[in-house]
Amino acid sequence: MKGMLDNSMHPVVSRRTWLKASAAVLALVHAWPALGAQGGAWPGLARRDAQIEDLIGRMTLEEKAGQLSLFAGIGPGRSVNPVTGDEPSVQAMEEEVRAGRVTGYFNSFNPYLARRLQEIAVKETRLGIPLIFAADVIHGLRTVYPVPLAEAASFDPELCRRTARLTAVEATAFGLHWTFAPMVDVARDQRWGRVVEGAGEDAFLSALIGAARVRGFQGEDLRAEDSLAACPKHFAGYGAVEGGLEYNTVEISQTALRETHLRPFQACLSAGALTVMTAFNDIGGVPATGSAELLTGILREEWGFPGFAVSDYESERELIAHGYAADEADAVAKSLGAGCDMSMQSGLYRQHVPALVRSGRLTEASVDEAVRRVLRVKKAIGLLDNPFRSLDPARPAQDERRADMVALAREAARKSVVLLKNESNLLPLPKTGKRIAFIGPFVSDRAGSLGPWSIYPDMDNIVSLEDGVRAAVAKDADITFTSGTLTEREIDGGIAEAVAAAQAADIVVMYIGETTAMSGEAASRVEVTVPAVQQRLAEAVAATGTPMAVLLRHGRALALEGAVRDAQAIMCTWFLGSESGNAIADVLFGDHAPQGRLPVSFPQMAGQQPFYYDHRSTGRPQTTTNGGFKARYRETAHRALYPFGHGLGYAAVTYETTQASTPTFSRDGSVRVNATITNTGNRSVHEVAQLYVHDRVAGITRPVRSLRGVSHIDLAAGESRTIEFILSAADLRYIHPDLSDAADPGLFDIWIAGSAETGEPVEVTMT
Ligand code: NOJ
Repeated sequence: MKGMLDNSMHPVVSRRTWLKASAAVLALVHAWPALGAQGGAWPGLARRDAQIEDLIGRMTLEEKAGQLSLFAGIGPGRSVNPVTGDEPSVQAMEEEVRAGRVTGYFNSFNPYLARRLQEIAVKETRLGIPLIFAADVIHGLRTVYPVPLAEAASFDPELCRRTARLTAVEATAFGLHWTFAPMVDVARDQRWGRVVEGAGEDAFLSALIGAARVRGFQGEDLRAEDSLAACPKHFAGYGAVEGGLEYNTVEISQTALRETHLRPFQACLSAGALTVMTAFNDIGGVPATGSAELLTGILREEWGFPGFAVSDYESERELIAHGYAADEADAVAKSLGAGCDMSMQSGLYRQHVPALVRSGRLTEASVDEAVRRVLRVKKAIGLLDNPFRSLDPARPAQDERRADMVALAREAARKSVVLLKNESNLLPLPKTGKRIAFIGPFVSDRAGSLGPWSIYPDMDNIVSLEDGVRAAVAKDADITFTSGTLTEREIDGGIAEAVAAAQAADIVVMYIGETTAMSGEAASRVEVTVPAVQQRLAEAVAATGTPMAVLLRHGRALALEGAVRDAQAIMCTWFLGSESGNAIADVLFGDHAPQGRLPVSFPQMAGQQPFYYDHRSTGRPQTTTNGGFKARYRETAHRALYPFGHGLGYAAVTYETTQASTPTFSRDGSVRVNATITNTGNRSVHEVAQLYVHDRVAGITRPVRSLRGVSHIDLAAGESRTIEFILSAADLRYIHPDLSDAADPGLFDIWIAGSAETGEPVEVTMT
């Protein structure tokens, strides 16, 4: 069986399940990627290539520095970063391309201009090296899919692969070769705004989903017209910024860095990613963009990464503000010297590299190596042979918002919805026969449904909740839509109007939460709660006594309070993209059952942050909610309100105690664990069974539970199925203090459960 574990070149590719005669469902556990110096994830990629060596041999120092310099082009994407300098004119861009002073452009959005610039690069420069065009295509281009955190709630890597694939098709139709995605920073603190861009708090889920996204973006063949090169970011540790404060310092042990924050990068590289973006933060006092330990030691020497590292928007210049470089030249020497090959936007590399080489501060060999990596990627994605790939003027018309893209955006959005609570089966709502009041600042909002990092959307085709609900119900349905308040301000008489609407209704659906600007880059929050004015609205509406379901819009886990927390039903609807309203209506009215699971823990109170399920055990763990000298807060039990992995369907499900095929297994063998899952309700459910492990005694304290497998299973009303996972030593390994990555023999608790805080474990011993 062990040979069947997919631990080879693409270790986390497939979510393969199959039925056995006994009707047990067998799920393969996805072992951590085994990426070593010989990772083998880049088949056929020559480390020395005659064409590239010939080019390097003929380049001047200035041309080399140009190959390492990337700039924002003309377009909407410029505004997502702090604007430095004026928007370039077309003429200025043409001139710098002609002079060989630029390697490519990002966040421009004009395939015709891109084609024109490529013509100049190929036909009018000395060496004819093509440009690369990049953008932050994070969750779709024209068709917008759910924000990455939402989509992670599907717990479905294959879905994430499919949305990334169609994203790539649309993006390459608009002249792009390279996306600054996936973001695989593991976010342990919900105050940090960038939680929304990744797969949440868990390294294993982040690795599974990150790798799936890489495979989706890049497709089968990197050289294909519709292949979009991926760029896992931000390398590394950014998700561990102190206090959840954006851009802040990171202090982290080597073991935690590797175990939690680097695993997803390994998975992405193992899936074939050829570029990485550095991080803004420092770690242990060394800015990541100037860290030879990260960029050379780990990335190249340990992992054998052949691609290039790009800085994050002037992060090489920021070495100065960090107090790690004296001036611009020093910053360039330190970042390029550490292994950051390409500079984004600052222009410092092209300004300083030639002089630094001439003065002996940088060796020409180190510059050549950076250029070699950049050209290797340009060659690998087919640009050197086919510079006009993805610049076909006919494609935008063919591949923009195709019907399959719109359908997938709706499918992904509804699979991202998480039902947290559903007292007295308030949901699903009937389509007729009840008066339903939809209340809250988002009920008719279209643009805000897209969420952060929607830079190039088709603004004419966004489905608001009101649009989606009206399309789902009959014309004469008794429904009202009232905003009540703005997102952070009252409307004159708005709350009174909302209360009147609630009084006149049988059921209220409150749609409240965060705006787009409250999460994403530079959007850390001190209190991860529903904004005060909306909370007041919820209290007033709840006081009417009309049964209330809450739909949350949010880019992070929230601490729910008062009437929101006490609502009969609560559903996470994140930012769901272009098809948001249709997808919510699909779930709300029961045409599709909710099936998402939380990729981030909902805390009891905001002040519990950082809060994540796979914390280590203290010497005084809290075992009861009663006081005592235990690891607890005065105000609340230190556990989740809704744990990682939690999510309900429209019928209840029970898990029996996990069983093992054998109480002991050897280090070279494997153990089968299973649990019987029963749908005790009268509607079908889609269950997401989760495999968790805990190492009882180890050379370093271990998390109370760690996710190691996920399997999806449909259960008809009343149906029971047994789900089985196969585990081996590879799934139990951890980073030891000497940095070795291995499993220790001993006792393990294994759960197959519906969340990180439920289930009955089985003990197994590895000998
Ligand atoms: C800064 C962000 O940190 C990064 O994620 C993004 O890709 C770049 N800006 C480019 O827009």
